[in-house]
Amino acid sequence: MSRILKSVNEAIGNTPMVHLSRIAAQAGVEGNIFAKMEYLNPGFSKKDRVALQMIEEAEEAGLLKKGQAVVELTSGNTGTGLSIVCAVKGYHFIACMSKGNSTERARMMKALGAEVVLVDQAPGSVKGQVSGEDLARVEETAQRITRERGAFRADQFNLAATVNAHEQHTAKEMWEQASGNIDVFVDFLGSGSTFQGCASGLKKFRKDIRCYAVEPCAAAIYAGHCITDGAHKIQGGGYSMDLPLVDKTLIDGFIQVSDGEAIETARALARTEGVFAGFSSGANVCAALKLLGGIERGKNIVLTLNDSGLKYLSTDLYEDL
Ligand SMILES: Cc1ncc(COP(=O)(O)O)c(C=O)c1O
Repeated sequence: MSRILKSVNEAIGNTPMVHLSRIAAQAGVEGNIFAKMEYLNPGFSKKDRVALQMIEEAEEAGLLKKGQAVVELTSGNTGTGLSIVCAVKGYHFIACMSKGNSTERARMMKALGAEVVLVDQAPGSVKGQVSGEDLARVEETAQRITRERGAFRADQFNLAATVNAHEQHTAKEMWEQASGNIDVFVDFLGSGSTFQGCASGLKKFRKDIRCYAVEPCAAAIYAGHCITDGAHKIQGGGYSMDLPLVDKTLIDGFIQVSDGEAIETARALARTEGVFAGFSSGANVCAALKLLGGIERGKNIVLTLNDSGLKYLSTDLYEDL
């Protein structure tokens, strides 16, 4: 039975899973896509799960104490999750973000009480396209502020808590909601915590579930492609860098998605399924459709719809429809 929650932190996770049958039918592919609606979390993204787990594990380990500030590098979603979790628990949160990310995110974090530090992009970088080099600049700033303020660094690219959030919760929910009818998992890599947590969690339930890493065509470093400039529009990932959280032996295959394909699929999701999501959700569903139209024909694919389309109203994702 539902109950009154003590805070919004308790509303994180346990997202609904939806059968995306309309978009699969429209694409003329055989098989099923089961999607976790992560944009229904309080911060409108899957990163709320990671934020809550990082803070609670740090509290339990005595690494985060009352009155201490929390710092993180963010493309916006982890920062929004941390803003929420810290607001509820009474920690001061400092978000370090590239100016290349959409402005909605910075505004939302500020509204939630966070201090937002915006970092200039590298020379030649394009607004809306955050490169690995841009991210390295934000990392430098995050490290400096952590030192200066004696803060706790909620390090989403390195802390095991981020993987635990998806292994202990997202993967378990997927398995239960799909009644174990899962053949394939696809995921667009950012920090890799969703991939790592869900792939390891799902393979514990059934070891032959195949897990595909999704990357932008322009930044398919894990697939071993040569990177020219690495620029792309799929915010939240595709950073062309090594990901310490990812165990490469869990990757059974690679799929590349172009900016245009991610955008077209996100738009099709809105029109056909009533799902208003961001670029990377479009990338995940596009990858699943490619697999159902090819080597995974007829199979059941699970994935996450990572964040809300509302976070991209200042971009070209839903412009000029
Ligand atoms: C919108 C969006 N999609 C995908 C990702 C990548 O997820 P992960 O870091 O778990 O690989 C992120 C990460 O910030 C994100 O914000």
